[in-house]
Amino acid sequence: MNILVTGGLGYIGSHTVVSLIETGHKVIIADNLSNSNKEVLDKLNSITNSNILFYQIDVTDSDKINILFEQHKLDGVIHFAGYKAVGESTLKPLKYYYNNLLSTITLAKACKKYNVKKFVFSSSATVYGDNNVPFKETMSLLPTTNPYGETKVMGERILQDLVKSDPEFEVTLLRYFNPIGAHPSGLLGEKPNGIPNNLMPYITQVAKGKLKELHVFGNDYPTIDGTGVRDYIHVMDLAEGHVAALENIKQGVHIYNLGTGNGTSVLQLITTFEKTNNIKVPYRIVERRQGDIASCYADVTKIETEIGWYAKRTLEDMCKDAWHFEKSTVTLV
Ligand SMILES: NC(=O)c1ccc[n+]([C@@H]2O[C@H](COP(=O)([O-])OP(=O)(O)OC[C@H]3O[C@@H](n4cnc5c(N)ncnc54)[C@H](O)[C@@H]3O)[C@@H](O)[C@H]2O)c1
Repeated sequence: MNILVTGGLGYIGSHTVVSLIETGHKVIIADNLSNSNKEVLDKLNSITNSNILFYQIDVTDSDKINILFEQHKLDGVIHFAGYKAVGESTLKPLKYYYNNLLSTITLAKACKKYNVKKFVFSSSATVYGDNNVPFKETMSLLPTTNPYGETKVMGERILQDLVKSDPEFEVTLLRYFNPIGAHPSGLLGEKPNGIPNNLMPYITQVAKGKLKELHVFGNDYPTIDGTGVRDYIHVMDLAEGHVAALENIKQGVHIYNLGTGNGTSVLQLITTFEKTNNIKVPYRIVERRQGDIASCYADVTKIETEIGWYAKRTLEDMCKDAWHFEKSTVTLV
């Protein structure tokens, strides 16, 4: 298939581009580089031994998107482009609503206009709110605690309404759990600006000595050791999940969790990282962080039974590849 990948130079998008090309699909990337770097394109070309078509455009810009759709006969869109920092979204809600909603609307309008019926949307486990674990696709969604989460709830709703109005659309909403790890080459990975919001880049930067110590937000949650429990999934498994979802896409709206189904606490992840890579990660327990929930992990039965996809890589693989990527990146002091 000929697939437009928005946000294809970002963390999850870039790994998915690799999986798409490796499975024989053609890819066009649209990214405005607001949270990525053109070097990623060179790395993608080198990993896949190809010359990927890249447009540096903002996908909220309908004129540019229409030109792109006119020039290329697309079979489908995988829409990753968006802002994702939960904390920032509470400080700058309009920035988040504008970018995350307008990008989805602009692309969906172009899909309708140019008769591109396959649409895969990056949603998030955050839409479940503080439900009882494991999270199942059939659960009623509870309020999220931040504008970022609300953009995902609304993005899902917009696409659901589109399908109601035009049942020929084939829309898959993928609710990601916690992607970590990196491409085994060490060329692609998660490279946040400033102090990381997510746990794994925080761990790797502390291990490397870029940051002094890791802050563990709360150890009084009702979990195995009091620290928060999450469903960590290797980003390459997540990438392969997109290919499986795309290849099995069908009419209507279909929602799938992309996780492993296993919950791991913060302390368990730190210990696994230390053992796997034989390196210490100094940490300190601090106050709970506002908006965090105790436990979040997936019920993955639906995607396993309907699509036959399941995550194959272990927590050790995630820790090894994340550390390999961190060691491969140059630290500018
Ligand atoms: N990483 C996670 O833990 C996680 C979890 C759940 C859902 N998601 C969602 O998955 C998607 C991808 O996440 P990621 O971790 O790869 O993020 P990322 O920031 O690494 O990648 C997003 C990419 O989109 C680009 N972008 C943003 N707005 C754009 C616009 N208007 N036009 C063109 N390009 C734009 C950025 O430059 C970046 O390259 C996001 O929608 C995110 O909300 C991520």
